Amino acid sequence: MTSEKVGLALLGLGRIGQVHLNIILSSHRTNLLWIVEENRELAETVLKGHGLLGKLRVVSNDKFDDILQDPQVKGVYVCTPTNTHTALVRKALTARKAVFCEKPLSEELADIKACYDDAEKYGATLFCAFNRHFDHGIRSMYDKARSGRLGKIYMVKTTFHDTPLWMGAPTFTQTFLIHDVDLLCWFADSLPDTVVVQATANIKEVAEKSDVDTVGALMRFPCGMLGILDFCKYSPYGYDVRLEVSGSKGMDVSDAKPVSYVKSYTPNGLETNPIHMSFPDRFDQAYRSEQEHFLDVIQGKAELEVKRVFSERAAIVIDALKESYKTGQVITLKK
Ligand SMILES: NC(=O)c1ccc[n+]([C@@H]2O[C@H](COP(=O)([O-])OP(=O)(O)OC[C@H]3O[C@@H](n4cnc5c(N)ncnc54)[C@H](O)[C@@H]3O)[C@@H](O)[C@H]2O)c1
Repeated sequence: MTSEKVGLALLGLGRIGQVHLNIILSSHRTNLLWIVEENRELAETVLKGHGLLGKLRVVSNDKFDDILQDPQVKGVYVCTPTNTHTALVRKALTARKAVFCEKPLSEELADIKACYDDAEKYGATLFCAFNRHFDHGIRSMYDKARSGRLGKIYMVKTTFHDTPLWMGAPTFTQTFLIHDVDLLCWFADSLPDTVVVQATANIKEVAEKSDVDTVGALMRFPCGMLGILDFCKYSPYGYDVRLEVSGSKGMDVSDAKPVSYVKSYTPNGLETNPIHMSFPDRFDQAYRSEQEHFLDVIQGKAELEVKRVFSERAAIVIDALKESYKTGQVITLKK
């Protein structure tokens, strides 16, 4: 066990990379040694915003091998686009660095398995950033459901209405559906037996790309739990994440999170606040907590909570959802 600052390299300064940059810079437990970003202009703008231009080493990906040879680097954050993850993750694991990789590790189950095989082979930590496991509200609902205090779990419903509209990946990908699929499998502690899906395109830009934006999926789990997934690619009213867990002894609900819980009583009625408008705001606490956990694992203070099976299950279920959408059939998952 050590309490030294953890030397880090951060790959990718896009939407989520900037979230992690802020958290790394605000932590007293980390020492950011390298940033890898292909877009130099973006990197300059971001670092200028932090008053760090010229003070941090920013390099392009062809210097990644040098970074991996730096003994001060203990952990590597992979925040680049999904299709680059597997190669970067495997390289870092081979160099025995602890890896924090944004979800998903890959869109392909075989790649996910290869990443975890490398983690086992080289004895290196591989943390796939399932940030919702670290959200205090979601975690407390999970703990309560698993403890039996809600009785037998009958139904878990996830709602994810995204905003702003992001067209960086088709809807039937892990990039979009992984969080909700993972939550349902996590609560049931297994793969579902069967899945079925319906989906439509209601947004013009999405339809023009022959994609869908509105998805409803139903999953039946071996424990008797039904999982309902409600996804929209764009919500005009905010970044809407809700969860409902019902069982034989009661029901827990977590609502979309407002920017503040203050309510104003006015002659015209009750005024409340809008919900958060983006993932960095909605999940700020969860992103901070997942980093604490990653650092704890590196420093030998905690066992890794995010298991290999979470990524593998999500990949299997999302492939089945795609198949159900394509064929219109209920899909039975192979045991
Ligand atoms: N957990 C979450 O809430 C969450 C939210 C958003 C995105 N993500 C995940 O994070 C990943 C990145 O998504 P994003 O929205 O930030 O993408 P983005 O396109 O905004 O950013 C990716 C950045 O990586 C850079 N880049 C590309 N290849 C690189 C390489 N080889 N080395 C270094 N930099 C490289 C790009 O120039 C870009 O700046 C995706 O896998 C996505 O699924 C997770």
